[in-house]
Amino acid sequence: MTAPTALKTFLDDLDRFPPERLYGRVASVLGMLVEVTGLEGVLSVGGRCDVLARGDRRVPCEVVGFRDKRALLLPFGSVEGIALGCKAELAVAQPRVRPDPAWLGRVVNALGQPIDGKGPLPQGREAYPLRAAPPSAHARKRVGGKIDLGVRALNTFQTCCRGQRMGIFAGSGVGKSVLLSMLARYTASDVNVIGLIGERGREVQEWLEDELGPEGLARSIVVVATSDEPPPMRRQAVYLTMALAEYFRDHGKDVLCLIDSITRFAMALREIGLAAGEPPAAKGYTPSVFGELPQVLERAGPGVNTGSITGLFTVLVEGDDHNEPIADAVRGILDGHIVLDRQIAERGRYPAINTLRSISRTMPACNTQAQTELVTRARRLLSTYEDMGELIRIGAYKHGSDPKVDEAIKYVPDIEAFLSQDKQERADLESGYAALARVLGMDWPAEDASSGAAAQEGSATEQAAQTAGGKPIPPKNDLRRARRQKKAAGAAGEGA
Ligand SMILES: Nc1ncnc2c1ncn2[C@@H]1O[C@H](COP(=O)(O)OP(=O)(O)OP(=O)(O)O)[C@@H](O)[C@H]1O
Ligand SMILES: [Mg+2]
Repeated sequence: MTAPTALKTFLDDLDRFPPERLYGRVASVLGMLVEVTGLEGVLSVGGRCDVLARGDRRVPCEVVGFRDKRALLLPFGSVEGIALGCKAELAVAQPRVRPDPAWLGRVVNALGQPIDGKGPLPQGREAYPLRAAPPSAHARKRVGGKIDLGVRALNTFQTCCRGQRMGIFAGSGVGKSVLLSMLARYTASDVNVIGLIGERGREVQEWLEDELGPEGLARSIVVVATSDEPPPMRRQAVYLTMALAEYFRDHGKDVLCLIDSITRFAMALREIGLAAGEPPAAKGYTPSVFGELPQVLERAGPGVNTGSITGLFTVLVEGDDHNEPIADAVRGILDGHIVLDRQIAERGRYPAINTLRSISRTMPACNTQAQTELVTRARRLLSTYEDMGELIRIGAYKHGSDPKVDEAIKYVPDIEAFLSQDKQERADLESGYAALARVLGMDWPAEDASSGAAAQEGSATEQAAQTAGGKPIPPKNDLRRARRQKKAAGAAGEGA
């Protein structure tokens, strides 16, 4: 270890201990809120205290505000056993985590403690603060090339780039968790960091075992805060998820960060805000919720060096109201949204992505002209069909009345089939375009062997790719190359 590193490690270690032991006393407990006197001079909002409850139980708490010269604390555990006069000990102000690559395959709680019964976690040498500022906007790289999400509908219609942040918006039971598990298993990322926030305990276990499975878990760290845990734990689980993602990003990894769900995180923030005496605003959410959301979500994205954090965050839209305040706020922060539609799920088409209502803001800049034209044509057909859907279904549309509608009726069932994907199937990015071209009866260039994207054995999309002939698709796309290709394609009359 070099001298500066050793010194930094020593200082980090030193940081873990408070400079001196300072105590206050519990002066009142009301609901979740614990009021402490005697420490108001040294505590600040976000600071930490350990309350020593009856039975020698140490309850970590966070300062959420001050009132009448008392510090207002919210505990990370149950308030049971906390009595008037109990000692409140000043703790380390800035909680940190010391991750290590050996954490992959493990499940932890919001405090970074293992909860999978697989023994203790090795502590890394670097301390990462749980609450960190995102890299400054000008120092950040731009989003990278396309990332293969392994889900055909997303790869083609909502193409995502490395370092992009997308929201998955859906009502309850429309397939968010299943889609997330597909993303965790199939995305071409180096590492996954997954935050499960506010789910029922039983669901978490089922999701880990049945949906994520050992294959997905092996390349992931899962942070869990279930619905029965106090709001500071649910909030901190999100901070920890981001801190772990930042650790791997800083080590040059392409990280996929999944959080299910941001809504439950916002609900935890709301509970904390209300307990601290903030006034409720939209739907009871306090103003601080809307200040906090961008700060957290901005932590995902490209880094300043090689690594990146691609973020996919679910947003629960209550009563399928896509304009509720959290959905609205999150949509404004992220680089795109994927809408899952209950009607589509009811038809049995999974993943139930509403292609027309979902967008990726990095498209079409990341596409070649041929890809853009292909996707635009498919969208146009879907849109025409949707406009006429009712008439077509009740049989009021007369074939031959409008060639555009006839064309939509001809192609849309196959496009729908293209959009559906079994959760056990992995689809790759490049062959998705060839498969869609085949559905639309368009010629498509044979795949560029150097792209290495067509290596999926036995997938339907690959077979489609094999049958398509013509010019090779240019490999990786960046903005400049895409523009060059666009020009070249224009000259060559490509894309038919
Ligand atoms: N890809 C899929 N293939 C087949 N069935 C699916 C798929 N995705 C979802 N489903 C069905 O939909 C149900 C609900 O899915 P899921 O648990 O992912 O929804 P959710 O949006 O996460 O729900 P909640 O809001 O309760 O968390 C699943 O139990 C399953 O029956
Ligand atoms: Mg779910």
